[in-house]
Amino acid sequence: MWRCTPADMPKKRQNASLVLRDRSNGATLFRWLYDEIRTAIVDGRLSPGSRLPSTRSVASQYRVARGTVVAAFDQLAAEGYVESTVGNGTFVRRMLPESLLGARSVGRASLSARGRLLAENPFPYLCANRSVETFRLDRPALDAFPTRLWSRIAARGLRSSAPRLLAHGEILGFRPLREAVAAHVGLTRGVKCTADQVVITTGTQQSLDLITRLVLDPGDRVWVEDPGYAGATWLLRASGAEVIGVPVDAEGIDSDAGRRRCRSAKFAYVTPGCQFPLGMGMSLRRRLALLQWAREEGAWIFEDDYDSQLRFSGRPLAALQSLDTGGCVIYSNTFNKMLFPALRLGFLVVPPTLVDAVAAARSVLDRFPSVPDQATLADFISEGYLDQHMRRMCELYTARFDALVRCAQRRIKDVMELSPVGAGLQIVGWLAKGIDENEACRRAAERGVDSVALSKFAIDRSMPPALVLGVACADIRAIRSGVERLGHTLREL
Ligand SMILES: Cc1ncc(COP(=O)(O)O)c(C=O)c1O
Repeated sequence: MWRCTPADMPKKRQNASLVLRDRSNGATLFRWLYDEIRTAIVDGRLSPGSRLPSTRSVASQYRVARGTVVAAFDQLAAEGYVESTVGNGTFVRRMLPESLLGARSVGRASLSARGRLLAENPFPYLCANRSVETFRLDRPALDAFPTRLWSRIAARGLRSSAPRLLAHGEILGFRPLREAVAAHVGLTRGVKCTADQVVITTGTQQSLDLITRLVLDPGDRVWVEDPGYAGATWLLRASGAEVIGVPVDAEGIDSDAGRRRCRSAKFAYVTPGCQFPLGMGMSLRRRLALLQWAREEGAWIFEDDYDSQLRFSGRPLAALQSLDTGGCVIYSNTFNKMLFPALRLGFLVVPPTLVDAVAAARSVLDRFPSVPDQATLADFISEGYLDQHMRRMCELYTARFDALVRCAQRRIKDVMELSPVGAGLQIVGWLAKGIDENEACRRAAERGVDSVALSKFAIDRSMPPALVLGVACADIRAIRSGVERLGHTLREL
């Protein structure tokens, strides 16, 4: 399909310069030439109407047989990228295929309002694939994961149930996994549910996306803890909701402050088990107050129970969902940090009234996560390995947190004070007066130390300067050296 007809090709036109990247292993000369020229046209380096160098000069410049160059040009002509006229040369067509023009014009103007919000969110910079490893926020101890055991369970499952595991999965998730999750979350978090209420997703982000699509309209107001998890804040903003930051203190979210700011919100995103990023649990008093508000306003509460099982001291309070008598709490948890981030499996426990809507929505959205992975996880949980792994991780992370707190206390107390946490994978380091947290992050990264400025998680509040550090993936040696490097950096500022 063409946008318009005939090309008006100039008679006297200089050849466009053609710079081709090196040929990758395995690509034939024809394929390489064709791909390189086509890519140069698509991304605009060869502009419409420009003349390609002659086949003879391309052949000699790149030491390719002329017949190969002719074949590549012919293929590009057949597909509509270029056209040749005898005696004049080969030109990039002015009228490119409609689909190609569309692909080139993806820019701000062509995005929807929701798309713009999604594209503008700063979150990728918070969790980008950085080369800096020490104190990375988003990584559990990967070296401690029982990889061999996992692969044995995966192979056994495929061997014994291959046709079933290779076919379409169930919309709400692999039934044995939903059953294992319902039992596990009932025992460990006091969540009241049957397997019918469990929905397997790829993790918290997808769970929240699915729920916001179902229960929020653009313009609806939502409470988010301030400071709070930026991945939730930006996802909610992208759904068109108006995010109202509600301050947290040592007891968690303060619903009285929320009522004063916006009583009639329709949704609250909270982390009662282990507040992100500050790490404390929500007191019983605050839990009851939040539930009371939700009941009065007919609001939904999304309980992100992320990391709450990774507890280092004290006994955890059961999930907020266990106190809910009004069917307004949607419980969410993820295996992506309990086990490993590449897994991409998590779950929701939804009130019975939402089950059918979730199933219907899912059937036109993503359908279901990988069935073989769900089956492996189901066996991993029901054979007791998840509990075993979590116990080991709690011991390991407790040792790492203790080492960090002691080392920081001894070596860098003059520039940073850590607030001890009871659970989670991260800790907040409060900076001495006068240190700029953004500059501290930038300069620490140059020394191989990762951190995120606490202000990146704030919504309306202005927080004292602090860095959020991830502790799980650093062993004790890396922790000590990270603390030294952080100390040098902070003292220079
Ligand atoms: C509080 C909190 N919830 C949820 C997530 C994301 O979970 P998932 O990777 O399962 O989407 C994160 C990720 O860092 C997080 O910090």
